[in-house]
Amino acid sequence: MTVSIGTPLTSTATRALLLGSGELGKEVAIELSRLGVEVVAVDRYADAPAMQVAHRAHVIDMLDPDALRGLIALERPQLIIPEIEAIATSVLAEVEAAGDATVIPTARATMLTMDREGIRRLAAEELGLPTSPFWFVDTLDGLRDAVSEVGLPCVVKPVMSSSGKGQSVIRSLEDVEKAWTYAAEGGRAGGTRVIVEGFVDFDYEITQLTVRHEGGTTFLAPIGHVQVDGDYRESWQPQPMSDAARGRAQEIAGAVTGALGGRGVFGVELFVRGDEVLFNEVSPRPHDTGLVTLAAYDRSEFALHARAVLGLPVEAAFLGPSASCAVLAEGSGVPVFSGVDDALAEPHTDVRLFGKPRVDGRRRVAVAVARAGSVDEARERARAAAGALRVDLV
Ligand SMILES: Nc1ncnc2c1ncn2[C@@H]1O[C@H](COP(=O)(O)OP(=O)(O)O)[C@@H](O)[C@H]1O
Ligand SMILES: [Mg+2]
Repeated sequence: MTVSIGTPLTSTATRALLLGSGELGKEVAIELSRLGVEVVAVDRYADAPAMQVAHRAHVIDMLDPDALRGLIALERPQLIIPEIEAIATSVLAEVEAAGDATVIPTARATMLTMDREGIRRLAAEELGLPTSPFWFVDTLDGLRDAVSEVGLPCVVKPVMSSSGKGQSVIRSLEDVEKAWTYAAEGGRAGGTRVIVEGFVDFDYEITQLTVRHEGGTTFLAPIGHVQVDGDYRESWQPQPMSDAARGRAQEIAGAVTGALGGRGVFGVELFVRGDEVLFNEVSPRPHDTGLVTLAAYDRSEFALHARAVLGLPVEAAFLGPSASCAVLAEGSGVPVFSGVDDALAEPHTDVRLFGKPRVDGRRRVAVAVARAGSVDEARERARAAAGALRVDLV
């Protein structure tokens, strides 16, 4: 097959519509742009990170089917690349069915993964993969029943949510009502449907980055990470694993990404206990914990995503133990970074300042990544770099 790529801003352009324009989309936009792709960035607010490096930007409500349909008709992209889950995915299915554009990885994958129920039923029931025990409920009474079935502690998550929103752990029966109210406030869609999961007392959790491309499926080294309040704070690569667990992780990741199909990077989240591996969830796109690949590989997950979606050969060389550490800002205002020089003082250290136009509440605004002789040293170095960055909100 010959892949040809035109010239941006001419009638020959190979155009990609990026649905979601956060810090991960920004890296994807840069990588696509390096390969001569015209990038159109979309989000629900202006001046989002990826918009700052794209050829063009649009501000729309991506959950509004008419707005999304209208924008696709206007831009006529060859590739539609979702960066977030909150999209009117039925429109993507229409566009794909009409053969108007390629949806990455597939419209069905975006539909199944935007709803915890879709992907969980596919993984556990259709593919028979091991997961935590789970129930779906729509009412507070239903939640009470589910909690008595699954036992304590258990985890409650709205089916339509991400980044830990609306998610809580029930440790005693007194927490049930609070968990319900919290889930009702944190969900994305109207009504409250939640998944109740048995709490998995895992030894560690990983992201198994998996690239589906023209030449087959490539697994990157396992990424270990720490989550606080549903947001990742640190990740490192490689996470030490037994051979058995590592093999099982790749088997599970291969099965679930194979069932979703299409081309691109997937972040398969897994819980590991001894040699046992449980499937948690999957992003059909680069994963935030995968920011560590900016240091660990000669081509990041973003570069690999760009290559895979364009039908180009995918290979990546591991450079050494690496880590990432998120930089958060809390409050209100426009971020101003100081100490950037101190953050970059150590060798093999890098930062990404996302360029988020404003912070209201708590947001991730930058990341530090580092490579070193061991994972422990790399974590130390990434933490030190992140700590040296000062963020003032003005
Ligand atoms: N059943 C569970 N048992 C133990 N920890 C869990 C469970 N489900 C989620 N977690 C923890 O919460 C984090 C976020 O949950 P996840 O299902 O990945 O939701 P999100 O879509 O917000 O990332 C996980 O990475 C893990 O640390
Ligand atoms: Mg997750």
